[in-house]
Amino acid sequence: MVDDKRIGIVCSGGDCAGLNAAIRAAVFRIAELGWTAIGLKEGTAGLLQRPLQYEVLTPDNFSGDIMRRGGTMLGTTNKGNPFAFPMADGSVKDRSHEILEGLRELSLDALIGIGGDGSSAILRRLAVQGNVQLITVPKTIDNDIGLTENAIGFDTAVSVATEALDRLQPTAASHHRVMVLEVMGRDAGHIALQAGIAGGADVILIPEIPYSLKKVAEKINQVRARGRNFALVVVSEAVRTTEGEALEQTFTDGERRFGGVGNYVGELIADATGAETRVTVLGHVQRGSMPNWRDRMIASAFGVHAVDLVRDGKSDRMVAWWNRQIIDVAIEDAIANYHSVELDGPLVRTARGLGICLGD
Ligand code: F6P
Repeated sequence: MVDDKRIGIVCSGGDCAGLNAAIRAAVFRIAELGWTAIGLKEGTAGLLQRPLQYEVLTPDNFSGDIMRRGGTMLGTTNKGNPFAFPMADGSVKDRSHEILEGLRELSLDALIGIGGDGSSAILRRLAVQGNVQLITVPKTIDNDIGLTENAIGFDTAVSVATEALDRLQPTAASHHRVMVLEVMGRDAGHIALQAGIAGGADVILIPEIPYSLKKVAEKINQVRARGRNFALVVVSEAVRTTEGEALEQTFTDGERRFGGVGNYVGELIADATGAETRVTVLGHVQRGSMPNWRDRMIASAFGVHAVDLVRDGKSDRMVAWWNRQIIDVAIEDAIANYHSVELDGPLVRTARGLGICLGD
């Protein structure tokens, strides 16, 4: 007799490219084992609603082009921490027990959570509190989760940012301009550094390396003195002002997020060099793209391994990509080892070796 298990799959935190490929892989593997896959909708928010928001998933759900699409077929949320849920009257309430009730109502044997470090921490806390068998799959364009070389979505975001530089270069050259490209990444400069190297940037500013405007202006003047009439500058969103102040904006939901550093740096460069400068803020374009082959491949490998860990009775583990292997690590350790750009790592060395100005 087939030992039927009901496995929940939930996306949590911001979306990125490759989530559908990960969901598909988990559903395929669950079906191979003769178990039932339950897709939980809208992240933890769907578990706070009554009736609960979920859908039984089978390989038939994936007969179309879903694995090729960006976003997540299940929906997600990066708001409303259930342990400190913002209520309409302005108060904050612990609603974790409602989520655990929801999970119990669905009679789940295990939960696979696809999330970044913030959402993995929330899912882990819920799992500990409710004694839930939990496996997480790392996803974030920021690639800042520890103990994995890659999180789903990062590769595609770098491809999009690189393509943006490819598109900015001809227009920059046609008008003798300095083009500043602001990219996402939160406190980690991985997208800026890798796209900047791949896209032929002259200057790359990342949060991990404090910069001097003088050095940036010198580099641009040097490029121009050598007869090149344009320059490309990549700035990561969490880069601070020259005085070390974070640049943030209040969004329509009342929350503060990074924003404004591209224009800030663009104006400083224009003032310091006299060059005509234009700024592009790439924003969510980096998240919504069709996943590239590598994100689909890593997502597929992660999805299968996550289900195999459930089968093996493992819990509190995150699947990870390490040295060309799929491994798993303690979720707690992955969260504790925040992955920022290694200052003495190969990519910083590469950038310096190419003569790219990192601002220092
Ligand atoms: O963490 C992923 C990310 O895209 C960051 O790079 C960015 O700062 C943030 O999410 C944007 O969040 P939101 O989708 O809420 O605007």
